[in-house]
Formats: sequence, C-alpha cells, structure tokens
Amino acid sequence: MPVSVKSASSGLGVAPTGGGVGAEITGVDLRRLDDDTFAAIRRAFVENSVLLIRGQQLSDDDLIAFSRRFGALDWAPIQENGRRFVDGKPEIYVVSNVIEKGVAIGSLGAGEAVWHTDMSYLDDPPMASMLYAIEIPPKGGNTGFCNMYSAYAGLPDPLKRRAAGLRIKHDGTYNSGGYLREGVAATDDPRTSPGAVHPLVCTHPESGRRCLYLGRRRNAYLLGLDLAESEALLDQLWSYATRDEFTWYNNWRPGDLVLWDNRCTMHRRDPFDPAARRIMHRTQIKGTARPAA
Ligand code: OGA
Ligand code: MN
Repeated sequence: MPVSVKSASSGLGVAPTGGGVGAEITGVDLRRLDDDTFAAIRRAFVENSVLLIRGQQLSDDDLIAFSRRFGALDWAPIQENGRRFVDGKPEIYVVSNVIEKGVAIGSLGAGEAVWHTDMSYLDDPPMASMLYAIEIPPKGGNTGFCNMYSAYAGLPDPLKRRAAGLRIKHDGTYNSGGYLREGVAATDDPRTSPGAVHPLVCTHPESGRRCLYLGRRRNAYLLGLDLAESEALLDQLWSYATRDEFTWYNNWRPGDLVLWDNRCTMHRRDPFDPAARRIMHRTQIKGTARPAA
C-alpha cells in the first residue's frame, strides 16, 4: 500500500489519491527540479502508476524538457485532420475540441474517449504519457484511470488461468474517440484489422508485477481463438477490469499535469459541452522494453 511521504529536504509530497490508482505530488515546480527530487518523482511514478501534479506553468518546451527526463520521446500520432503536429514540435499531441479557421487544432473532439492505453497498436508502445491542462471546460471532460495490476489480481482464478499464455491484438484502426486513424482503412473485423500483438498478461519491466494488458475493446482479438470465443472472453475480462474500485478520476484544473504509466493503466474521458473549450498538450515517452509476459 503506497503511503504519504513528505521529504524534508525538497518539500516534495506524495499522497495517494484515495481512489483505485494514483498519487498527488505536491511542493514542486516542474521547470526547476534537482536530480534527487526528480528521482523521487520517478520512484513515485513506478509505485503509483498515475501522478497528478497541480499548479504548474509549463510552455511546450518546459513540458518536453520535463518529459525527456524520463527518456526519449515518441512523436505524436497523426491527428484526425491529417496534421502531424503544431509549430515544429513533433513531440506534442494536442487533445482539443477547439476549431480555429474551420480546422480542429487537436484530436478527440468533445465526446467520450473510451477506455484505452495510448498507442498500444505499436510493437513498441510508449511507456508513459503526460497530459498538461491549458484550458478546461466548466464541467465534464474528467479523465479516469484504471489500475491494471488490480484488474489482473481481481480476476477469478479460472479466468487468470485462461488468460495466461494468450496473446491479444491491439487495434490500430480507431482512436479512443472513435475516429479512424490516418492512413488505415475502416474495418470491424478484429481478425484482419491492423494492430500489434502483445501478451494478454504482462510483467511490468520495473515493478516486476503482473498486469492485464487490454489496450482497448474495439477490434481487440485473442489470437488462435474463434472470433465468437475471443469476443466472449474479452467481454468477460472487461467486465472485471474497469470496476469502480480500480479507478480514479481527475477533475481537471488548468495547470494540472497528469503522468501515467501506459504499461499498467488504461484511461478514458467523459464527454463535455462541445461549445466549451478544452485544450490539453500531451507528450509520450518511448518504451524501453517491449510488453512481455
Ligand atoms: C490522451 C487521452 C483523454 C483526455 O491524451 O491520451 O486519452 O482527457 N486524453 O483528454
Ligand atoms: Mn489516451
């Protein structure tokens, strides 16, 4: 069980959210972090899987610089409007419903984003993502996180045994907002849709703990099973995975930075009023180890 700690030297505090995953970090300005304080944040990240750090004032360069302390960055995926990135910063993925001069400035619109892990349709998915809140609607648009260690631990034993050794295809056709990704053909056949195959139960390379690795529900496929059998088993696994007691939601404020471990969490977003503005900038940190059983 993670505990609240306050380090006398740096003023850094780590307090569990009280939900099914995550901790809040206090007492830091992410633009000015000494190596010891960064090391403490890095440890808290592995221990708590999701970190909320409020009250930050980050430019894109600050966000990129903090992200790079965790490792090399992946380029953002191509947005739904075909744009790869804004103003020469390929590391920044814009999540926004705002339309400027008839063009969406970012991805995912204002609808629900369903439970998912970022970019797990790649063979080497990012190990973590960071989302920084710039403009937030007055209500709605909360983001939920789900603890996939708990999801695995909470499976009944027969289901754990069934899951062991299976491989799952993580679909690359649609993003979590239901939009078709750039350069792929629409399909609803999970057996032939593009994507990457990963073990269904993974061992986290840093914590050594086992977690369920589902990625996203749409077009997921358990290799070697009949489609109907795969669908039924996936539905059963999903019915356990996202139980309320495994989740925690962030009620965003501008200046919030949330960092999550993509290897052992999923996330989703509530819809919000399309007439309101929401602007978030994201970075994604390259994985150092391919998901492994
Ligand atoms: C993401 C994402 C949800 C949100 O940035 O990867 O899924 O709350 N965002 O905007
Ligand atoms: Mn996401």
